[in-house]
Amino acid sequence: MRIDVVTLFPGMFGGPLSESMLRVAQERGGGEIRVVDLRGYTEGRHRVADDYPFGGGGGMVLKPEPVFRAVEALRGPETRVVLLCPQGVTFTQAAALRLAREPHLVLLCGHYEGVDERVRIHLVDEEISIGDYVLTGGELPALVVIDAVVRLLPGVLGNAGAAGNDSFAAGRLDHPQYTRPTEFRGMAVPEVLLSGDHARIADWRRREAFRRTAERRPDLLEGTPLTAEEAKWLTELERGSRAS
Ligand SMILES: C[S@@+](CC[C@H](N)C(=O)[O-])C[C@H]1O[C@@H](n2cnc3c(N)ncnc32)[C@H](O)[C@@H]1O
Repeated sequence: MRIDVVTLFPGMFGGPLSESMLRVAQERGGGEIRVVDLRGYTEGRHRVADDYPFGGGGGMVLKPEPVFRAVEALRGPETRVVLLCPQGVTFTQAAALRLAREPHLVLLCGHYEGVDERVRIHLVDEEISIGDYVLTGGELPALVVIDAVVRLLPGVLGNAGAAGNDSFAAGRLDHPQYTRPTEFRGMAVPEVLLSGDHARIADWRRREAFRRTAERRPDLLEGTPLTAEEAKWLTELERGSRAS
């Protein structure tokens, strides 16, 4: 998979792309990530990429010409062009999975007051928001999307099953995790996790994951049908909360 990120601030990507999973993805996960300087697609002596908004008001708007030029230079037959935008569809794990199957993404980072509307209408395949808040630019949202996507590429996470157990992968939150020491300041690790009984451990984890989801994110339970086991746990949880 190749990801091209088009930005006016390429320096914001150096650190994150050279650390942890983003580095690993590029080294061994088949994820080629290129940071493309939008300024390189501007024209004239002053290399201007932004201008005042028509109609007045404060702030600046990214001009359409350099963005169109950049995308036209990068786009191939299998490219999906994504604009990071607070007005887009909220990013989810399901969207990350879908994008991880694309061979080539071009991520467009807005800045200032945003991007000329003609980019959104004529150039972009989809708009992604990382949440209902406004950031200064699309660079951090692009990094969020890149991280969520490339860790799903085959070979990036050491343990092949790890992403499949994460929160949201199967419409549930992840179970609690413990590591050594077995007791810390009087707080003990649940006995079952020390038992060596893999079936019991798996059972405990499924149940705890379900309990967490029901308590913290009951909306997720509506998206994925309950198994018979989960329906039983839900009844028990509801009984427990009525009794307390
Ligand atoms: C200051 S914002 C522009 C906000 C715009 N005036 C609005 O209210 O919708 C500048 C750029 O940051 C990026 N951005 C800000 N918040 C974002 C979010 N929640 N998700 C994705 N991108 C975001 C977008 O690329 C946007 O063009």
